Amino acid sequence: MKLNIAVLPGDGIGPEVTAQAVKVLKAIAMEFNHIFTFNNGYVGAIAIDKTGNPLPQETISICEKADAILFGAIGDTKYDMDPTAKIRPEQGLLGIRKLLDLHTNIRPVIAYDDLLNKSSLKKKQIKDTNILIYRELTGGIYFGEKTLSEDGNLASDTCTYSRFEIERVAHLAFKAAQARKGKLTLVDKANVLESSRLWRKVVQELSTKYPDVKLDFLYIDNAAMELIINPRQFDVILTENMFGDILSEEASVIVGSIGLLASASISDKHAMFEPIHGAYTKVANKGIANPIASILSAAMLLDHFGLDAEGDLIRKAVDKSLKLHITTPDLNNKYDHITTGKVGDFIEDFINNPEETNLNFTNIHLGQSTII
Ligand code: IPM
Ligand code: MN
Repeated sequence: MKLNIAVLPGDGIGPEVTAQAVKVLKAIAMEFNHIFTFNNGYVGAIAIDKTGNPLPQETISICEKADAILFGAIGDTKYDMDPTAKIRPEQGLLGIRKLLDLHTNIRPVIAYDDLLNKSSLKKKQIKDTNILIYRELTGGIYFGEKTLSEDGNLASDTCTYSRFEIERVAHLAFKAAQARKGKLTLVDKANVLESSRLWRKVVQELSTKYPDVKLDFLYIDNAAMELIINPRQFDVILTENMFGDILSEEASVIVGSIGLLASASISDKHAMFEPIHGAYTKVANKGIANPIASILSAAMLLDHFGLDAEGDLIRKAVDKSLKLHITTPDLNNKYDHITTGKVGDFIEDFINNPEETNLNFTNIHLGQSTII
């Protein structure tokens, strides 16, 4: 298959983790005889530095022409500390989502057996957790009208949703539930918010089309607690933009590190794949950023094009790296010399030699293995 992939590494740790995902995609292309071409674009703080615009026209063109986009991370502490900044890195990411109409964001949350002890939650509570979060991505309070009074003392953000916006993401979530355990949980705040009541109504109506899916409802405050105390009860979670942002980051606690969570953002024409973590600028260029979220996002990219064996091979390689503790320091306090690049090298090597099962664990950690 020929795929034209736009690569937007962005800010902070974005470039180093994305480089590992590209390395892995190149290995897949080689192994399976695909032709993947990569075109890089600037986005976020780096794009502001270079062009004054967090989403330059050239980047937009690269994305529009691409079959898929691989996105790194966005943000910079200098903007975080300046709430008055009019031009902000995040506008780059939000701009792409809106422009390409990437309305559905899919975030898998899987508790790996080999990482159960990395979570601050109890093993027996999180074991076998496997959740798919469907987050609406181009509506709600993120994109509603914003105001700031002239004297700067009054501000507002509006949460607006239309039936159309709810239906398109809900259909996809119902279908995902059908292909899994058949359970869908809508998370909202329908006891307070009018927009949430519309979500409830529309989703209830749609549910008649999916009689094989068991639909239930939770308020966001309750869901935030249930997710931690009993995550196994969930199969597919459907929710609006901001609740999904918060819940998915909370869910990373189950997995053991936010550096493991991948995501896909899709529209009818475009698709973007990105880790859910941010730019984490303070550790950039230290070689300690976990590239797995970006690598697993690349696997989701392959799934999107029906390249299942390819995606599965990446996931198998990731499983192996976790089993062998070939992981960055967020997951590994024993072998802190395992860098972002070495994790990528291991996964690349596994893809090139999937049959190789006798890797010498000790040598890998001593850096003496031929595979690193
Ligand atoms: C995410 C991020 C973004 C969001 C930020 C960087 C704008 O937190 O993708 O979860 O809030 O959607
Ligand atoms: Mn987030």
